[in-house]
Amino acid sequence: MPPKTSVHGSWSSRWAFILAATGSAVGLGNIWKFPYITGENGGGAFVIVYLICVALIGIPIMMSEIMLGRRGRQSPVNTMHTLAIESGHHPAWKYLGIMGVMAGFLILSYYSVIAGWALEYLTKASSGDFTRQTPDGIKTLFSNFIDDPKHLMLWHTIFMVMTFLVVARGVRGGLELAVKLLMPALLVILLVLVGYSMNTTGFGAAVEYLFTPDFSALSWGAVLTAMGHAFFTLSLGMGAIMVYGSYLPRDASIAKTTFIIAFADTAVALLAGLAIFPLVFSNSLEAGSGPGLIFLTLPLAFGQMPYGTLFGALFFLLLAFAAWTSAISLLEPAVTWLVENRNIKRVTATMIAGTFTWLVGILTVFSFQKDSPIIFSFNFGGVKKENGFFDVLDILTANIMLPIGGILIAVFAGWIMSREASRDELEMGEGNAYKTWRVITRYIAPALVSIVILQLFGLLDPIFTLFAPIIDLLSNRP
Ligand code: TRP
Repeated sequence: MPPKTSVHGSWSSRWAFILAATGSAVGLGNIWKFPYITGENGGGAFVIVYLICVALIGIPIMMSEIMLGRRGRQSPVNTMHTLAIESGHHPAWKYLGIMGVMAGFLILSYYSVIAGWALEYLTKASSGDFTRQTPDGIKTLFSNFIDDPKHLMLWHTIFMVMTFLVVARGVRGGLELAVKLLMPALLVILLVLVGYSMNTTGFGAAVEYLFTPDFSALSWGAVLTAMGHAFFTLSLGMGAIMVYGSYLPRDASIAKTTFIIAFADTAVALLAGLAIFPLVFSNSLEAGSGPGLIFLTLPLAFGQMPYGTLFGALFFLLLAFAAWTSAISLLEPAVTWLVENRNIKRVTATMIAGTFTWLVGILTVFSFQKDSPIIFSFNFGGVKKENGFFDVLDILTANIMLPIGGILIAVFAGWIMSREASRDELEMGEGNAYKTWRVITRYIAPALVSIVILQLFGLLDPIFTLFAPIIDLLSNRP
């Protein structure tokens, strides 16, 4: 039987959970990653696929993950173990938890390096480095910075220490409060930036770019990236939300909280897009310029607007905070697992997990240099071929580990856990809401995710060839 409450603590209320989970969801994924992958994948059609994935796959899987966490009340590894046994299945389900812990390590290792960019830009913004810079000047600032491993190392280390400090202090100590104050502030700054961008010449082009889909330009690689990003941005597929769910009071409605979190997360991503793309188009920058996109565009706006030094500093400060509240959730599953299974103190566990992540992060630090010593060449099912450890990690985690984790979570919640158990936890009654959740979780979400992954490996090609005449007929092609 799972314990009634988690040994690691609990949230003070349902709202504390919503804030913490939103803090986990809203992070670099929304403000840094969403705009640059949208730019790399051609805009509108990519955005639509991403939104469909959030609604159809993300929301039901988030409900499942919270539900499993609240029922198991332990680290993802032991939660999966206990719940599998409770439902009369094989304890090997715990490997789902272990894969999650691994994914968390890998994501945090590079996440911390990028959060370090935000910290560096905080100091750059506040010392007025952006004032009246040209696009070329901003470009030089950025490339000089990422070409300098010592600098990157310093910020990566600082950010990991910051993450350590919060996680070591436990569930309530500081985290709840931080999120409560910071998330609204971030929203306000983002709105200021959107307001600024609305008055630039590129606003119309940006809206068109983001919201007019051109499906003919959409590759399978882009579909996979959009789906992977839905997992990434909602913090799904690796047990982060599961652990947060394990601290959730019994009386909270899982469905309602999930909707609030998903809505807030999507809104922040779309606002970030509306702040950044107008600047891309007004300054004739390259939408597909990759991970540097926000660091190449936003400083231009800050360099020109009144009080730009202040707004710029505030923006990067809040971005770093958003990354901070996410990083915590990437480390938490590993820490709870170490505490439970190795019987060590939280501080020690955090130290071990944090040091390990920091070490792996060094590989990312060296992957952005012009003559990076760490080079990989790969071409993976239409996902942009690129070099560098960072790209390998990003694709491995967001496009492979999280979706596979997500399928397994859905399969567990839909097929392994008894109907009574999930109905009890979700408290939606027996009506259509519950039935819809169950159908999506059992069939639709696993099927969609599997199709995208299988096609990426070219495994569905024979089927497409088989159906090609019918598809041609339907789409009226000769
Ligand atoms: N969702 C966060 C972001 O968008 C990143 C993140 C935090 C995450 N916890 C996670 C991603 C767990 C995957 C899994 O920045």
